[in-house]
Amino acid sequence: MKQFALITGASSGIGEQICHSLAKRGFNVILTSRTESKLKTISEKISFKYGVKTAYFSCDLSKKNSPKKIFNFCDSNNYDVDILVNNAGYALPNTFEKNSVEDEENCIRVLGTSVISLTKLFVRDMIKNNRGKIMIVSSVAAFAPPAAIQVMYGPLKTFMNRFSEALNINYNSKGITSTALCPGYTITNFHTASGVQDEMDSVPKFLKKSAKRIAEEGVEGMLNGKKIIVPTKTWKIIVFLIKIVPQFIFDFLSSVLAPGRYNN
Ligand SMILES: NC(=O)c1ccc[n+]([C@@H]2O[C@H](COP(=O)([O-])OP(=O)(O)OC[C@H]3O[C@@H](n4cnc5c(N)ncnc54)[C@H](OP(=O)(O)O)[C@@H]3O)[C@@H](O)[C@H]2O)c1
Repeated sequence: MKQFALITGASSGIGEQICHSLAKRGFNVILTSRTESKLKTISEKISFKYGVKTAYFSCDLSKKNSPKKIFNFCDSNNYDVDILVNNAGYALPNTFEKNSVEDEENCIRVLGTSVISLTKLFVRDMIKNNRGKIMIVSSVAAFAPPAAIQVMYGPLKTFMNRFSEALNINYNSKGITSTALCPGYTITNFHTASGVQDEMDSVPKFLKKSAKRIAEEGVEGMLNGKKIIVPTKTWKIIVFLIKIVPQFIFDFLSSVLAPGRYNN
């Protein structure tokens, strides 16, 4: 059996950098997202650069049966998945009432239900093997004040943080750890894909971090069994302040720093 790390949302941004970060440390990687051409290019580049085995499988995580298809792909190829990185994600643009119920459901599936399904499918072998690492790429939005756009995004990330905590309570004794990686603003395709790049342009430069840096801190922490990671000092301070500063002050600061996101 070959041992692999499976990364969702591997075709760009944080997920792509997590693949590099793991491959650099000698892990074989399986990449998944919807765009097969990008997965092929990235996996060829990674296997050439780091000399590890790579595989890729394209599917849409907003479809209910996609987690099972990913699991079957790994199973039929004898890829023993020791590390599961649930990273794929986007957020819906617009104010809440403008998005259809179907759009909300698809987004919930990508950010939430598919994470639960993939974890359930892969954790069973991790339990048998007495080892495993799970990462859920969450967000500082899990701690932040409610926003005027992407209304469901913060609550879903909070849910994922709690889910990750629950995995730790249940499986640490079986050699399995779960890490919630909570980045702040990261320079990726996320804001364009989520239709809010204009609203986010005003965010000051010192708050914008590279995907490579986020991935490195995340992978290092996950391999060390850290339960929650807020990468970079800047965002650690912000999350600390969110927890101690009265919400009305934070609401005001948010509306100044990211007016499109927090003003309605
Ligand atoms: N960028 C930020 O500021 C930021 C901050 C905090 C947290 N995050 C979180 O970081 C994670 C990665 O986002 P990113 O910033 O790296 O954005 P990104 O560059 O847009 O990457 C998102 C990845 O998710 C995949 N994806 C999107 N919808 C999918 C679907 N329906 N099925 C399967 N894969 C899908 C995309 O690939 P395809 O298009 O090929 O499917 C892509 O590989 C997300 O969970 C996001 O919530 C981002």
